[in-house]
Amino acid sequence: MISRRAFLARSAASAAAFTVIPSRLVGADGSRSPNSRLALAGVGVGGVGFGQLQECAEAGFQIVALCDVDDAYAKKAYDHWPQARRYRDFREMLAAEGDQIDAVYCGTPDHTHALIVLAALRRRKHVCCVKPLTRTVHELRLVVKAAREAGVATQVTAAANTSETACRACEWITSGALGDVRELHAWSNRPVWPQGMTRPPGEDPVPKDLDWKLWLGPAALRPFKRNWPADSPALTQMNLKEWNPGIQAVYHPFNFRGWWDFGTGALGDMGCHHFNTPFRALQLGSPARICASATRVFAESAPLASIVTYDFPARDAQPPLRAVWYDGGLRPATPRHLEGWPLPDEGTLYVGEKGALLHTWAGLQVFPEALGKRLETVPRTLPRRRGTWGEWAEACRGGEPAGCNFKWAEPLTEIVLLGNIAIRTGKLLEWDAAQGNFTNSPDANRQLHDDYQNGWSLEAV
Ligand SMILES: NC(=O)c1ccc[n+]([C@@H]2O[C@H](COP(=O)([O-])OP(=O)(O)OC[C@H]3O[C@@H](n4cnc5c(N)ncnc54)[C@H](O)[C@@H]3O)[C@@H](O)[C@H]2O)c1
Repeated sequence: MISRRAFLARSAASAAAFTVIPSRLVGADGSRSPNSRLALAGVGVGGVGFGQLQECAEAGFQIVALCDVDDAYAKKAYDHWPQARRYRDFREMLAAEGDQIDAVYCGTPDHTHALIVLAALRRRKHVCCVKPLTRTVHELRLVVKAAREAGVATQVTAAANTSETACRACEWITSGALGDVRELHAWSNRPVWPQGMTRPPGEDPVPKDLDWKLWLGPAALRPFKRNWPADSPALTQMNLKEWNPGIQAVYHPFNFRGWWDFGTGALGDMGCHHFNTPFRALQLGSPARICASATRVFAESAPLASIVTYDFPARDAQPPLRAVWYDGGLRPATPRHLEGWPLPDEGTLYVGEKGALLHTWAGLQVFPEALGKRLETVPRTLPRRRGTWGEWAEACRGGEPAGCNFKWAEPLTEIVLLGNIAIRTGKLLEWDAAQGNFTNSPDANRQLHDDYQNGWSLEAV
């Protein structure tokens, strides 16, 4: 007879090995229609979630339930899908929806991703989460483990590493035409929201449409404050008014990004986009050393600008590599092979012995130009996929895992979180990826996790 312990171990192993297909979608004979629509519940639907849920619908999901803590901000989504059942608390949604949903999309601020994603995974729902997957490394480890145990299809919304442009970059790098790549630069013009600030004084009444305590979730309680004063340096610095004229919020909506309690700053916001393709092209894995240089570091908010340097050890045939991140308008200074070429606002630059490859939202550019002729002949070997939502839908139906599934996203998310710890501690940090801790800084190790408040717990959700 099999012991209960052995039975549970076997069940967990088989759950990890196969994608779970909800019984609702499987016919009596065990077959399943490839065209059956996947019932999707969206959590956090007033911001980027509104647009991304429309893309999910185009990819074959049916939006059957919506959850948001702000009825006014979510109204456009509620109006767009009037038939979808509505909730304020994701726990109530998951309990009530039960087997009526196959998948969950999470589009809330960073500090509640882990709770929502874990709750969905523990109910064996397929999950797509906006980047960055989590706000702390501890959350990240728990989420990735739960996804493995659930055996469901997962996806993170980092810029696709399976598009034509991303695949071409990977093919060119691995062809060796650029020579050994020992240097990588990635930069962003973000933040286009306030950073480098302290809390504004005072308190505003909480709007009747907003559940502020649910928005705060596991973060320490703090008074609600609606907008920055119009002449506040938080808005006037870095032309934020020009970039984001409608959004003067202190925390909600959108501007949570600059506060460590809720967001992950410019690096957390954009790093996963810019590093996703390099992770594929260069098999980066985990860095061994991280250090940062930043403008004034504040206790509660990310700095105005930072430079973070990561040292990656040699990987298989690839030599050691230094990757450098820049934000707040900073860019790499005079990169090799580019000879004064003006760099765009955002981009990723691979610097090899024989040439450099610039990857921007506009496409790929090679230096020196003459190298382009040779690259044209590099065979197209990687399959091009259907983009973030199409890939996730395919994976939910039992196909290939999505390109930025949670396992893939683990080291990608980790480097932005580690970079933020380097910014906050100001120390040169030695990272032991296998042990999941820094070997030279108890202070930095304390920042790998956070104390959950207000009765919330990652274990009990
Ligand atoms: N390309 C991308 O993948 C992409 C683009 C933009 C933003 N993002 C990410 O999306 C997230 C949200 O960013 P945003 O700009 O949409 O923010 P936002 O503040 O505009 O929208 C967040 C939404 O979540 C709701 N919300 C907050 N807490 C909730 C909770 N506990 N339960 C249910 N709903 C809740 C808010 O009311 C709001 O409707 C961030 O993590 C950001 O990094 C990803």
